[in-house]
Amino acid sequence: MRMTVIGCGYLGAVHAASMAELGHDVVGIDVDEAKIAALASGLPPFFEPGLPELLDRALATGRLRFTTDYAEARGNAVHFVAVGTPQQPGALAADLKYVHAAADALAPVLTPGDLVVGKSTVPVGTARALAARLEGTGAVVAWNPEFLREGFAIEDTLHPDRLVYGLPDEPDSRDLVRATLDEVYAATIADGTPVVATDLETAELVKSAANAFLATKISFINAMAEVCEAAGADVTQLADAIGHDARIGRRFLNAGLGFGGGCLPKDIRAFMARAGELGADQALTFLREVDQINMRRRSRAVDLAREALGGSVLGRKIAVLGLAFKPDSDDVRDSPALNVAAQLALQGASVLCHDPRAIENSRRRFPELSYVATIAEAVRDADAVMVLTEWNDYRELDPVLLAEQVAQPIVIDGRNCLDSAAWRAAGWRYRALGRPREALVPAFA
Ligand code: UDX
Repeated sequence: MRMTVIGCGYLGAVHAASMAELGHDVVGIDVDEAKIAALASGLPPFFEPGLPELLDRALATGRLRFTTDYAEARGNAVHFVAVGTPQQPGALAADLKYVHAAADALAPVLTPGDLVVGKSTVPVGTARALAARLEGTGAVVAWNPEFLREGFAIEDTLHPDRLVYGLPDEPDSRDLVRATLDEVYAATIADGTPVVATDLETAELVKSAANAFLATKISFINAMAEVCEAAGADVTQLADAIGHDARIGRRFLNAGLGFGGGCLPKDIRAFMARAGELGADQALTFLREVDQINMRRRSRAVDLAREALGGSVLGRKIAVLGLAFKPDSDDVRDSPALNVAAQLALQGASVLCHDPRAIENSRRRFPELSYVATIAEAVRDADAVMVLTEWNDYRELDPVLLAEQVAQPIVIDGRNCLDSAAWRAAGWRYRALGRPREALVPAFA
């Protein structure tokens, strides 16, 4: 099938390459010439494991092209819209300017019967508004939200937990769109992926609800971490214990610095804003609490550093290990780790930052911070080491060797990702969010 993918960021680039992998003939369109040039030469402008290989394969078959020219979308049966929906500056709501611009640029090349499929995360009601905006072109609008996680984007696209189709109201058109989307995803569906076919509004809301639930789960365990800290209990053991209940589940119960990235924070804020517009703001006031619990974790990490260093970080040398909002990503959008590093620097600490992938992006945001290329440089003579993103490089550090390099063996585990017993045994003062100062009874597996 011939298709267009508009917007070639994390979502669009991965979607375009994955669709080509499924055998479709795909043209990726973006207004950013540098991005298009990079993708066309097989070099994604961001780090996503497996994507360079997938791009190479797809480009070599000739089934995938990238362009800035919307005219190349002409004649394609399906046009995916995968542009960004960032938070509006100074407001909670999502900014839809890229969605509108994409629709307006696409409109002149649409032919009656074309299918425009939204993938971006949008406020409920956007699909219907877009259909009205494209009235006169004869195109039909559907919504097919994407649930991919950075770091697992290809796996999540090719083997999603479910496919969600938001279909138009009119029965004939609904059946036609359903059949087209089934054809697009034939290989995925053949693998047993369930399809939930519904109306436009429900499909849009599925995405907002899923993100709100995930954010709530993380803030729930971080709220428990606050109580554990006050009571001298251990949130990691608590999470293991409640996670054994299948109704709760252990995934997304990792307490620590909380959630960041280009999706969860802005999506829960946009969801609250949209509910407010719809007169249902009371239903989502709890998300404000979810957001606040999340933001408090960052300050708590800074407090922990201050406490561990005797009341002030002024003039103290702190090694920050990890800047990306999560491992296997170079993304620092709303990164808790980068935020903590910046707060420490503001309080007068001498901060040396390391990350396996995210230094370039971090430097662009915070040029005033100091970045080093190796862990050894970061920790040399440090008064404290803070692990703020749970990269394997840090999990696998040898606490015995590291202890010899620092000025004093103080470690703050912002992601509860280190083996606390091993670090303590190597002589470190180990501090973590939501865990007691001293080791409790070791958990039995
Ligand atoms: C998220 C959703 O998972 C995905 O379905 C949606 O499409 C986009 O948003 P992503 O932002 O890539 O994906 O990252 P995710 O793996 O969900 O992690 C989000 C943040 O939560 C990270 O900062 C991560 O460190 C944090 N997190 C996650 C926790 O603090 N604790 C956990 O237990 C899990």
